[in-house]
Amino acid sequence: MTVTIKNNEAIEKMRVAGRLASQVLDFIQPKIKAGVTTEEIDKICHDYMVNVQQTIPAPLNYAPPGHSPFPKSICTSVNHVICHGIPGAKKLKNGDSINIDITVIKDGYHGDTSRMFHVGEPSIQSRRLASLTYECMWAGIAQIRPGAHLGDIGSAIQKLAESAGFSVVREFCGHGIGTTFHEDPQVLHYGAAGTGMRLEPGMIFTVEPMINAGKRDIRQLADGWTIVTKDHQLSAQWEHTVLVSETGFEVLTVSDETPEPPNGLTFAV
Ligand code: MF3
Ligand code: CO
Ligand code: CO
Repeated sequence: MTVTIKNNEAIEKMRVAGRLASQVLDFIQPKIKAGVTTEEIDKICHDYMVNVQQTIPAPLNYAPPGHSPFPKSICTSVNHVICHGIPGAKKLKNGDSINIDITVIKDGYHGDTSRMFHVGEPSIQSRRLASLTYECMWAGIAQIRPGAHLGDIGSAIQKLAESAGFSVVREFCGHGIGTTFHEDPQVLHYGAAGTGMRLEPGMIFTVEPMINAGKRDIRQLADGWTIVTKDHQLSAQWEHTVLVSETGFEVLTVSDETPEPPNGLTFAV
C-alpha cells in the first residue's frame, strides 16, 4: 500500500477542489423536488461543473478495471440504492431519499463529497437512517489525527451504526484521493480500533459510510454499476474528503450549505 503524503501546494489545490465539489451540492439542493428526474439533476450539475466552475466531472466515463465506463457526471442513489446509482428517466416522488455524490477535478486534483436529501416529507425511518449515517461519518472523522489507526475510524462507525440496529456495507470503502480518484489507503467503515495503518499529516482520504436499515448484503444491477440492498430496505450515505493535519483533521469538502457537524465537532481541529 503506497499512500501519498500531500505537500502544501497539493493540499491547497485539494482545498479548492473540495470546496467546488461541495458547492455543486449547494447549487443542486433547491432543485431536488418531486417530479424531477435524476437525469435532469445530472444535466444541471454537469452544466454547472463544466460551464460555471470549469471543473471536470470525474465520474463521466470513469472505468476502473472490470467496469464499463460510468455514463453520467454524478451518482444518484435513491431509497434502496446503496451507491453508484446512474441518473435516469425516473421521477423523484414525495418521501424518496436520495444520495447525490459529486466528484470534481480542478487543476488536476479531485474533491469527492456526497449528501442525503429528502423529497418532501420523509418517513420516520428514512429521516432516522440519514441522520444516523451522518453521525456515523462524523464519528469516523472525529478519530482522525496523526498517530491514530485507520481501524479507529471503521470501529467508531460500526459501533454507532450497529448500536442503532443498522448494518454497515463492507464491499465499498473510503479511499485516498488526490491527482487520482481512488488511491491507497482503503478506509473501511468497520473494524477494530488500534488496527491498520497509522495516520500521518498530509494524508488525504474520504470517509463515506454506507449504512443499511436492514441487512448489509448487496446486489449489483445488470447495468454493471448500481448497487442495491439485497433485502430492498433503505440505505444512506454521506461523504467528506478529509486531510490529516498536524493537529488532527481538516474537512476539505465544505461550503456555505454544508450541514454543521453534530454535537461539539468542528470542520477542523
Ligand atoms: N464518488 C464515488 C466515491 O465516493 C465513486 C463513484 S465512481 C462512479 O468514491 F464511476 F460511479 F462515478
Ligand atoms: Co469517494
Ligand atoms: Co463520492
